[in-house]
Amino acid sequence: MAFKHFEAIEKHAGLLGVLIAIFVSIGGLAEITPLFMQAHAVKAPPGVHPYDPLRLAGRDIYVREGCYLCHSQMIRALRFETERYGHYSTAVESVYDRPFQWGSKRTGPDLARVGGKYSDPWHRLHLMNPRQVVPQSNMPGYPWLAGKKLDAAQIQASMRTLRRLGDPYTDADIAGAPAAVDGKTEMDALIAYLQGLGIKNEPTPAAAAASAAGAP
Ligand code: HEC
Repeated sequence: MAFKHFEAIEKHAGLLGVLIAIFVSIGGLAEITPLFMQAHAVKAPPGVHPYDPLRLAGRDIYVREGCYLCHSQMIRALRFETERYGHYSTAVESVYDRPFQWGSKRTGPDLARVGGKYSDPWHRLHLMNPRQVVPQSNMPGYPWLAGKKLDAAQIQASMRTLRRLGDPYTDADIAGAPAAVDGKTEMDALIAYLQGLGIKNEPTPAAAAASAAGAP
């Protein structure tokens, strides 16, 4: 009897397609729905602060220049990754990242914990022309960033928008942004952003342990 039903399905591509779609969606929903619930439960732990104005500007430049096309910012819980890059990434670390920069394309190294690995002058040379410091590098240079001044009004607008989405910026933080980025170039901002990765957004060890314990 059962074989007859299978035969009907196998002989009707349309029916087969519809049934496949239904069953795949059930599997997808079962996996994805709990993640959405969890995302709302992720709150910033102590030690993780929203981006200061200079680093926020740097983050926007990172996104604008498409650095994520070659760099991920998510260290997976695999031995060869944690040995190379440090502690695996936890969800709370990117609680202020909109959009998050986890990525999956790894032409270059993961950058989740690159902060403090090199000096500011090293980053400057590297971003001007990567081959000055890493001869075999195939990363493009970004020399124009050094000649572009930051737009304070734009940064304040971003902070206001992020505040509406829930980031705890105060009026004083927003009012202080022009002074914080005064005279700085896009290059300075990008370097400040890179130097904060894995340091400024790192939760206290207790918070990291709690988040890891709650992870699936
Ligand atoms: C075409 C791919 C590509 C793009 C786009 C790219 N990178 Fe890279 N990046 C690499 C590769 C490959 C390396 C490793 C060689 C080197 O250090 O230059 C690297 C290395 C780095 C390093 C050093 C990491 C370490 O741990 O040694 C930093 C920092 C970095 N890139 C930042 C950036 C930033 C910021 C941008 C965007 C402005 C960017 N990259 C865009 C490919 C890329």
